[in-house]
This record gives sequence, structure tokens and C-alpha cells, in this order.
Amino acid sequence: MIIAQTVQELRQALASSQRPAFVPTMGNLHEGHLQLVRRARAQGDRTVASIFVNRLQFLPHEDFNSYPRTLEADAAKLVAEGCDVLFAPRESDLYPEPQTVKVHADPALADLLEGEFRPGFFTGVSTVVMKLFMSVFAGKAQGVAVFGKKDYQQFMVVQQLIRQFVLPVELLGVETCRAEDGLALSSRNRYLSETERAEAVQLSLALRMLGRDALASANALSQQLPDLEARAMEGLRQRGWQPDYLTVRRRHDLQLPQAGDALVVLGAARLGSTRLIDNLEI
Ligand code: PAF
Repeated sequence: MIIAQTVQELRQALASSQRPAFVPTMGNLHEGHLQLVRRARAQGDRTVASIFVNRLQFLPHEDFNSYPRTLEADAAKLVAEGCDVLFAPRESDLYPEPQTVKVHADPALADLLEGEFRPGFFTGVSTVVMKLFMSVFAGKAQGVAVFGKKDYQQFMVVQQLIRQFVLPVELLGVETCRAEDGLALSSRNRYLSETERAEAVQLSLALRMLGRDALASANALSQQLPDLEARAMEGLRQRGWQPDYLTVRRRHDLQLPQAGDALVVLGAARLGSTRLIDNLEI
């Protein structure tokens, strides 16, 4: 596996590739990331992963400094998966000057849910994704980008970015990888204490129950939803969580649903100092 630190090195490593398949990550790779790499391998002529903890998508009080950085172990895992190129830029390689030009995702999508509780998050994500895409895909007729659907809203923001900027990128979404008890895998799970880890699955259980209740209320969905959501949040609060949102939305734009819409249940909640997110298409 070639490890490229600069955009120039990356482009050299991909010079003969017609169709790179790319998995962007912030590192601390777990089975969920490795599944994305496996899917990518089947899609392109070269498999590229990136590891970059992107300061632009963290709020000042968030975990940018403590975010786990495990480059050596990550590189070994990527080698074992047959990844061809790892792009692991330093901050000064990707942001050699202050990033004053940014990509602002559509507020109708990006200011909801995650965007409401993490203002600026999707500007940070969209900006770095655009930069990573330009680094990997510039000059290629077509490439593939593989994203996990655990970050459901992020996936939709990236989908819109690709579509509206006519980027030569096919986007592939991969289902959330879960631990045996159902907890969605996340690099942030490593912040959980043993007791918190045992409790953590309750977020996905609460989403499942909320989804079931929403489906049961069928035609009266929009009237009943506020109560159902409030009850689901209260249930988690009683168990010691601090929920940001547990909500049922229509899949195609994450707006409030009407009867007959295809639905997704999404949630974000803090357990101790760890903020977890999850979702479920129903
Ligand atoms: O999902 C992530 O790990 C990050 O948001 C991404 C897409 C790598 C951008 O920093």
C-alpha cells in the first residue's frame, strides 16, 4: 500500500487509475470502515482510503483534540484489506492556507438535526469532502465514493454536493455495521465506560420502538408524532441520557413526514460525555 501525505503524492499514486474507489475516514478504523473498504474494492480499479481528522467540522467544545489518532494500526488494517493507497495528509498539506473558501450545504437539509445541534458541521464536512474529492478524482472520467449510512444526513449532504456540482463521482451508501447487541459501530464508542457501553444499545432500541409506534399510527402520523418523539426522548432521559433529538422524518429530504412517505428514524443523544447517533429506515 502506498501512503501519500501530499495531494501531489496522492495524484502520482493514482496516475494510472481510470476509476478510483474512495473511502474517506477520520481514522481509528473499526469493522464498519473495513466493510466500506471491502465494498470499495469491488467498485474501482484502485482502492483509496483517507485518514484526516478535519478541524473544520468540530465545534470549539467538541473532541477534535482527543479524537483517537491511531495511524499505524489503521494502516495495518488497510493493508490487510488490500487497500492500494492511503491518503493521510497533515493539516498543513490539506489546508496550506486558511480555508476561506467553503462549501455551504443547502440549509434546508444541513441546518436540521445534526446541523441544528452542531452548527457549521456540514460546512466543515462539505468543504473537506470537496477537497478530498478534488484530490482523488480530479482528471478522472468517473470514480466511486463509499460512505456509511450511519451518518445518514451526511450521506444526503454529500449526495446533493455531487449532484449539484456535477462531480464525476458515483456515491455508494453502505448499511450501518453493528455490534452483536445492535450498537452502531463508531470510533466514539471507545469513549464509553463499561457501564455506558452496556447501556449504549438503548439508543437503537429507542429508535426501533419509535419507528414501530410511528408505523402503527399510520394516517394520524403527523398529529401523533410530536407525542411519540417526546415520549421516546423522555424514555432515554429516564435512563440517564441527554437526547438532542429522536425523530421520524421522510427519507428523501428529512422534512416532517406525511402519511404514505418512506420514513427514517434518526436520533442523537449524549451518554455521559459521549455523543452517539444512529438511524433506522422503516
Ligand atoms: O464521516 C466521517 O468520518 C467524516 O465526516 C468525513 C466524511 C471523513 C469527513 O471528514
